[in-house]
Formats: sequence, structure tokens, C-alpha cells
Amino acid sequence: MTDLGIAFKDVFGRAPEGCWAAPGRVNLIGEHTDYNDGHVLPFALPQTTRAAVARRDDGLLRVHSADMDGGVVELRVDDLAPGTGAGWATYPAAVLWTLREAGQPVGGADIHYDSTVPVGGGLSSSAALQVVTALALGELHGVRTGRQELALLCQRSENVYVGAPVGVMDQTASACCTEGHALHLDVRGLEQRQVPLDLAGNGLTLLVADTRVKHAHADGAYASLRAGCEAAASALGLPSLRDVSHDGLAAALDALPDERLRRLTRHVVTENRRVEDVIALLDAGRIRDIGPVLTAGHLSLRDDFQVSCPELDLVVDTALDRGALGARMTGGGFGGSAIALVPVESVPAVTEAVQAALPAARIFAATPSRGAHRLP
Ligand code: GLA
Repeated sequence: MTDLGIAFKDVFGRAPEGCWAAPGRVNLIGEHTDYNDGHVLPFALPQTTRAAVARRDDGLLRVHSADMDGGVVELRVDDLAPGTGAGWATYPAAVLWTLREAGQPVGGADIHYDSTVPVGGGLSSSAALQVVTALALGELHGVRTGRQELALLCQRSENVYVGAPVGVMDQTASACCTEGHALHLDVRGLEQRQVPLDLAGNGLTLLVADTRVKHAHADGAYASLRAGCEAAASALGLPSLRDVSHDGLAAALDALPDERLRRLTRHVVTENRRVEDVIALLDAGRIRDIGPVLTAGHLSLRDDFQVSCPELDLVVDTALDRGALGARMTGGGFGGSAIALVPVESVPAVTEAVQAALPAARIFAATPSRGAHRLP
């Protein structure tokens, strides 16, 4: 039995039926575009959340995490309902409820988790938790859904049950990414393409710096930004900001009633263009040239979307100063992580400088890794 299986047995007194893993993600480019029907380009981290699972036939969901205090959390499947919080266990409960709501024949289970995805680092630890739960319960109960459908289900569990109006990027990345690639997701039609991203072969490292800062207003701010984008689209008479073309940006800005809506719109429209630019450069084998596009994305998030914070700006500025080709915050913002594209020879200097500037930061190299999978 694997270490995870043994841990399951220690908690639940029997062997699991199977073990699964789902990764966290970084987003290379395409921030706050997913809920505007736009483009994103995340890749999966090597860090995963793992789950050992066995079904139960008595209507109970019992979950335990190696990383959380509080022991086993026990919930009645029939009592699950949106808005009933249970701490971290709300996420697996939400997934189970959503599977059942979708008509899937999923019942109770014992689940033991562990995770190497930093929690609160803006690296989608909650999406990893959702996706590993959905995949494990789905496979054990013979649910036939594709990976994108699984990601949509996890997003719905967060939107409806947890009550956070997130887009579908993180869950899709965790469910659908493949090793050695970033995933281009066009959210409008949910078309996917795996875009080769060979960092090492090009003498590059992608450093992630988790600032370990999360500003308190982050959740409320996300909802209000999303509402702002929807207000801008509706003021323009469009279904979403995706429908503003890059060429049509100036006219759209003229037509908007206030400065905030203009800022939000400018970010979303230019960010969609940056995703397309990065993909074109990667396809052309010009990976080093994506650096300035990443940095331009950071400035747009800082100045137009206004979701950066001093710690993220400090990481970005320090990395660029020490030889990074490009750097940006990644994820929703207001804390969390920044990424830097760094020539291998500059990795020690960049790492040292960022660590000195922000001693609490956790810095590591990220390689594009595989999405969720069953473990042997
Ligand atoms: C969070 C959300 C995603 C996305 C990003 C910003 O990670 O979960 O859906 O909106 O923020 O790009």
C-alpha cells in the first residue's frame, strides 16, 4: 500500500478503493479574462492534492486532511445544502452535492487528503481539492463525464454551494493540463489547445514566488470586479467584454460612462490580446520574447485592474531588476503569487534578491505538469 493508502487506513480502519491526485496551477497569462468569456493560458504545477477514497453505503461523507486540524469531519449526504459551511470540508461537500444535483448516482464516502499545493498562495489549492474529489467520486461511482465537464461541475460547486463567483480557469487547468504544455482555453466556446512550453530546453526557469500575503478584502473585491466587468459589457450593449475587439477598444472606452469601467475594460481587452500574442510567440519558438508581454500584463493588472499589492509589485520589480525576462502576478491578486521567467544562469541572483526583499516569500521553480489522474 502507498503512504497515502496507509494514512487512509490509519484514519478509517480499512483500505481505500483507490487514490487520485490533482494539481495546483499557475496562470502564464490571461488574468480576470475567464469570467469575461475570454482567453487564459495556465499550466499545472507539479504540486498536487491527493485523495485516498472508499465508498460508504450509509449516507455519510467523512473527510480527513493530513494538513488541517480538527480530525475527521462527518456530514450527512442528505443534509448537504448550499451555504452550509464546514470549514475546508465545504469544498468536498460542495462537489458531492453538485454531482448529485447533476443527477449522478454518487453517495457517501470516506476520503483522506494530503496536499503539497501551498494553501492561500493563489495557486488553486481549492480547485485541486475540488477536482481530485470530483474525479475520485466520479470514477468510483461510474460517472461518465469528460474533463471539461468535470471542471464546470467543480466551478458550479464553488459558485453555488461555496458562494464564490469564480470563473472556470483553475478547475479546467487542474483537470485538463498535460505535462510540458500550457493550456489555451477559450472560455466562450470552451475550446482547448495544449500549447508546448519547453522551459528547460530553452535555458529558462519559471520561478514562482508565493508572497504568503492575502489581503482581507480579496473575496469581496473579486465579486465587485466581476460585477464591474458585467456592467461595462452591458453599458456597451454586449454579452461580455470578450466582444470588444482590440481595434474597437478606443471607441468602446469613449462610450463608457466612468473611469472605473474604462479601466476594467482596457485591462480585459488588452489581456485577451496578450494571451494571443504569447501563444503566437510560443508557436513560433520565440519563448524568450514572451517576457515583455508578461510584464505588460502585470502593469495592466496593477494600474488598470488594480488587483496587485505592494508585495507582488516588489517581487516583480526585484525579479526584473536582477535579470528576469518578464514577471507578473498570477491568479486573482491582492496577495498570492507572482511568476518570473528567468534565464537559468540568473536563477540564483533572482531567487536571492526576491528572498531578501520579501523574507516571508516561498520561492520555487515550476515545471508544466500533468493534470488530475488516478494514482497507481
Ligand atoms: C481566480 C479565479 C479564476 C480567475 C482568476 C483571475 O483564480 O478562481 O477563475 O478569475 O482568479 O484570472
